[in-house]
Amino acid sequence: MAKARLYVMMGLVVVVLSVGVGVGLWIYWKAQSWSGPGTTPYFLEELEKRCFSYTRDISPVDCTKIVEAFENAFIFKDPCKITEEDYEPLLKLTKQSIPCGKVLLWSKTKAMAHRFTQQRQDLFTLEDALLGYLADGLSWCGFPDSNAMNYQSCPTRGDCKENPVSVFWDVASKTFAQGACGVVNVLLNGTRSNAFDENSTFGRVELHTLKASALHVWLLHDQEGEPSDTCSGSSIAHLESIASGKSMTFNCQDIKSLDEMRV
Ligand SMILES: *[C@@H]1O[C@H](CO)[C@@H](O)[C@H](O)[C@H]1NC(C)=O
Ligand SMILES: *[C@@H]1O[C@H](CO)[C@@H](O)[C@H](O)[C@H]1NC(C)=O
Repeated sequence: MAKARLYVMMGLVVVVLSVGVGVGLWIYWKAQSWSGPGTTPYFLEELEKRCFSYTRDISPVDCTKIVEAFENAFIFKDPCKITEEDYEPLLKLTKQSIPCGKVLLWSKTKAMAHRFTQQRQDLFTLEDALLGYLADGLSWCGFPDSNAMNYQSCPTRGDCKENPVSVFWDVASKTFAQGACGVVNVLLNGTRSNAFDENSTFGRVELHTLKASALHVWLLHDQEGEPSDTCSGSSIAHLESIASGKSMTFNCQDIKSLDEMRV
């Protein structure tokens, strides 16, 4: 009698294990492997937390609606077929106007640019604006046929260009740059051989959508040794020619530390 019960138990264990392995394989198969990190754990909760903390002291903003609009941009969608229109409702809800002369763009100098705007609360990088603040450092993507989020992996630009994260940053950068007026400052990295990189978000997206009157480049050389690129180098000359073509006044200054930035 005891033996029979043991067999039944063992049989049950085998069944449970097989079902477990089967479900595991199915989930693994569903979660095609992309090359980027999967959705940040507690993604929606994180968005909500950030939204509340950002908007605490400003006019009424409906964080629940904002989080919903963010989710709807990529949920139930092929993570390689996201469009700028998918983010349109989110853009509308997070519209923000930055005073003229108070925008700081950056390329390959993210940490430094943020250190600067930490000290200078009147200046804004995209990540100091609500939309960029919400998504900074996060990863997200879904599936075409379910409302789940993919926590295993998400596509990078190498997997497909129209992925949720890349499309988001492109359209967020575009919107941010479009709204900039007066003098636009940009912090570039003089330790790199091409301080102005045409393929960066700044070179590919922001520069071309700017409608501001002037562009001021701060070229940072914060490392020891010879700078790789300077204001008189060819990449900056190229940047200047693009700015001139857009009738923007152009200025470039080589600096060794943020203290030299007079914005
Ligand atoms: C500039 O680029 C170099 C080389 O890629 C990097 O090591 C350095 O941290 C960058 N500087 C800043 C301020 O981000
Ligand atoms: C930018 O990307 C294009 C196409 O991917 C490539 O041909 C070009 O060399 C790149 N330019 C720079 C400056 O890296």
